[in-house]
Amino acid sequence: MKRLVVVSNRVADPGCPASGGLAVCILDGLKERGGLWFGWNGEVVASESEIGVSCRRDGQVTFVTMPFSEQDYKEHYLGFCNAALWPVHHYRLDLARFTPESCDAYSRVNRRFAEALAPQLHPDDLVWVHDYHLIPVAAELRARGVRNRIGFFLHIPFPPPDMLVAVPEHEWLMRAILAYDVVGFQTSADQANFCRFLCEAMGGEMLTSDVVHVGCRFVTASVFPAGVCVDSFVTMATQAEAQRRIRWLHRRGEPRINIIGVDRLDYTKGLPDRFRSFRRLLELHPENCKAVTLMQIAPPTREEVKAYADIRHELEALSGEINGQFGDFDWTPVRYVHRNVPRETLAALYRGSQIGLVTPLRDGMNLVAKEYIAAQDETDPGVLVLSRFAGAAEDLEEALIVNPYDADEVAHAMQRAISMPKEEKIERHAALLARVRARDAHNWMEGFLEALDAPPFSWSASFSMPAPKIDALRPWTPTAHSSAAPSGRATASRGLRSAAIPHAPSIRPAEIIRTEPRA
Ligand code: ADP
Ligand code: F6P
Repeated sequence: MKRLVVVSNRVADPGCPASGGLAVCILDGLKERGGLWFGWNGEVVASESEIGVSCRRDGQVTFVTMPFSEQDYKEHYLGFCNAALWPVHHYRLDLARFTPESCDAYSRVNRRFAEALAPQLHPDDLVWVHDYHLIPVAAELRARGVRNRIGFFLHIPFPPPDMLVAVPEHEWLMRAILAYDVVGFQTSADQANFCRFLCEAMGGEMLTSDVVHVGCRFVTASVFPAGVCVDSFVTMATQAEAQRRIRWLHRRGEPRINIIGVDRLDYTKGLPDRFRSFRRLLELHPENCKAVTLMQIAPPTREEVKAYADIRHELEALSGEINGQFGDFDWTPVRYVHRNVPRETLAALYRGSQIGLVTPLRDGMNLVAKEYIAAQDETDPGVLVLSRFAGAAEDLEEALIVNPYDADEVAHAMQRAISMPKEEKIERHAALLARVRARDAHNWMEGFLEALDAPPFSWSASFSMPAPKIDALRPWTPTAHSSAAPSGRATASRGLRSAAIPHAPSIRPAEIIRTEPRA
């Protein structure tokens, strides 16, 4: 079996609870298969000169990590990744902030990652890069002579083309992505948006339902829905400690119905709308007062970005309002926990909750929805209320699917879940569990790696397809192929909009894309 090299910004610490779908779904698979995990170690050092690569082994997995400098943390991670790409990919152009410095930092960090990673690679390794933080890594590796198969998986949504173009450097990013052999998405809607951009804006052509031909590149763009490790949730949710916690949740005198929400405190998760929906439930169905509690576990995330600080204040104010309006000596309607908790505790809380409330305004997949299903008691399961804007809704049809912006609709769904007959709950849950099992963490990883390890696309495989014109990348096709400058940089000129990314040496976005300097 070929060695797997995973590259991601966030690298899980096997000893700590990980909040964030990426770390969770990679860790399980990588532990099983073994391999190398390369990325950020979560630390920030004062300056670039202090950045060093460290290596440690845990079981079959070798972790190779490096810190960010303060500037990289601010401009790359908080800046371009989480104040520019994140909001655009989640359809929140109103929150997006673009600066040339942040894009330079993004380019710099990707280059540094590739520089440190390239010497670690063996010719036969399968290299799998994850998420929006690292789109240009493959182009940077190619520039250093790496010829391995390299795949990319996007954990977050891919926006429609007319939103993507709001990122000033979108052309550069989309060219960079062509350096991958396989590009994976959570849903068919994301894959369609990506292919639309390649075909409509870059002159690409679909050769099959998931092979796109753009310029001189053939890229496989497919859907690989991320999943969870079902058996580990079943085990965690049924062990003695979990039973003790569940009894605690339902101890005498406490409310009968627990509604659970588990999300990083991110504005994409729709938490204020969720709290308002819960308030609406109490207004529309006052019989639920003292009988129903909403427990929201929302650990901090990216707090230095203003939009995240704002959402925290909004949520704290709302929970105070609701508890003030409805609470009593013996009942707190909203319990809000702002920290990470061990996965075992989460599994017990899922199992002890009659409703799983997963109502993001936009989400790549949402693994919490799948974890909730996996942790239920099959003979007396809870009900999943799921936003239509979570990637998971494309598959989890038997959940109560809601529009998270419509507080009344979500309140009605909660009420329907509260009064749902047991037989219906069992039937819905059985169907959902089958779906969650069919697309679990193992299948996700194996499916992607199978596509990555498959022979590259060839014309003979595409039988009757006519060969597309080779100049299909017309709008941005290089007029001349630039060779490496003495510094190792592309001989970029602002008039030359080109240097086909997959083969170009280290490239700075501003050099390739803009014909005019930014005002
Ligand atoms: P995202 O990747 O946007 O954070 P997901 O729902 O896909 O969203 O994944 C979140 C993951 O993080 C899940 O595996 C969930 O169990 C975990 N998680 C969320 N909140 C917590 C928490 N408070 N403590 C521990 N793990 C958490
Ligand atoms: O799932 C999307 C994602 O951005 C992952 O890449 C990441 O692991 C998770 O959310 C948590 O975000 P962060 O790594 O910024 O804490």
